[in-house]
Amino acid sequence: MVQVVLPNDANPLGFILGGTVMHLIDIAGAIAGHRHTRSPLVTAAVDDLQFLHPIKVGDLIILKARVTCVFTTSLEVQVDVYSEATLTGERCLTSRAFLTFVTVKKEERRAREEACARRAQRLARRV
Ligand SMILES: CC(C)(COP(=O)(O)OP(=O)(O)OC[C@H]1O[C@@H](n2cnc3c(N)ncnc32)[C@H](O)[C@@H]1OP(=O)(O)O)[C@@H](O)C(=O)NCCC(=O)NCCS
Repeated sequence: MVQVVLPNDANPLGFILGGTVMHLIDIAGAIAGHRHTRSPLVTAAVDDLQFLHPIKVGDLIILKARVTCVFTTSLEVQVDVYSEATLTGERCLTSRAFLTFVTVKKEERRAREEACARRAQRLARRV
């Protein structure tokens, strides 16, 4: 995802607000998760997040999101955030976040839990 940082996104010092960056991280991560699973997902967690360098008004903010691992009903997405100076193209890693998204498809969850219960009974019946 690429966006230009506009004055409306910035604090009085002319740097993008941390909350705006967090919002964009959530959106970029969710897009990666949804494109991977094609399922409804909610954000369950965002690991420790740091802002290493400011991004100023007029710079580009670039977010690269990728699914790092898929678990049973959850997955982890890594989002790297870069600033890019529009005139020079100089890029700088400003944040790295790991998000966990969880599927909320209740019907499939129930089917899985029922299948697990059936499997346990099936295996218990073995001689
Ligand atoms: C996230 C949520 C669906 C988890 O529901 P839950 O019934 O407690 O989840 P379960 O214990 O059944 O675990 C389901 C999966 O979620 C994962 N999970 C649950 N809470 C988690 C957390 N805080 N961090 C990371 N993973 C989490 C579990 O590890 C499990 O993954 P797996 O199936 O791949 O092993 C639920 O807490 C929720 O709806 N939260 C609000 C989400 C939301 O509104 N987000 C928007 C921002 S506020």
